[in-house]
Amino acid sequence: MTEIRNIVILTGAGISAESGIATFRGPGGLLEGHRVEDVCTPEALAYDPVLVHRFYDLRRAALREVEPNAAHRALARLDEAWSGELLIVTQNVDDLHDRAGAQRVLHMHGELLSALCAACGTREAWVASLPPGSVCGACRAPALRPDIVFFGEMPFQMERIEAALATCDLFVSIGTSGAVYPAAGFVQTAGWHGARTLEMNLDPSMGSVHFEETRIGAAGNLVPAWVEEILAQN
Ligand code: APR
Repeated sequence: MTEIRNIVILTGAGISAESGIATFRGPGGLLEGHRVEDVCTPEALAYDPVLVHRFYDLRRAALREVEPNAAHRALARLDEAWSGELLIVTQNVDDLHDRAGAQRVLHMHGELLSALCAACGTREAWVASLPPGSVCGACRAPALRPDIVFFGEMPFQMERIEAALATCDLFVSIGTSGAVYPAAGFVQTAGWHGARTLEMNLDPSMGSVHFEETRIGAAGNLVPAWVEEILAQN
């Protein structure tokens, strides 16, 4: 068996479920009765920016009530201890990996606590109240929007992710249904380049067939155990 040096970890809503954040496609899903088209698309932002901002304001408020769980903490411990390459690519817009202390985190679908200027691309912290049309601190355009990748938009930093997938020895997916591309295709990309592939999820996912190994269970149990395993060979 080849030695593992470079690891890419993909996380989805399931890793934050035990912190109390609803997943997208489970019962009582995150969209809270809204249609995706009404709150998660560039067209929605243009047509009803007040509704879109209110939706993300509520999610931001909910984020203040939750804490990282054992799975986030275990990945932060791995990040600190792992001497090889490691990249935690998260589809989650919460900050629970960051709050747990992980450093090598890439938010491919954006971040609730960040604002993005649609005019110049500058990011700034999302302060208490940023109504639609708030002015960018860098270019002064009234164009600040949630720093969230909507349906139909390209996820952030795809080149960096593709490069990491092409060179990793192990690809691990945690708590994602495998319903949304391009993230759902990462397992195949990593596999084609020769990586071993491991999935940890509460249920078999749409992508399970592509993984060499699937462990079924709660992230809060599975991830700390796996981190102990992988660190034992570091
Ligand atoms: N531990 C592990 N897995 C869990 C847990 C848990 N405690 N609870 C739920 N899960 C699993 C579910 O079984 C499901 O397969 O997490 C997965 C969550 O799937 P989704 O709700 O579809 O979330 P995700 O895969 O992150 O969605 C991807 O879709 O709407 C977009 O941009 C949004 O980033 C999001 C993307």
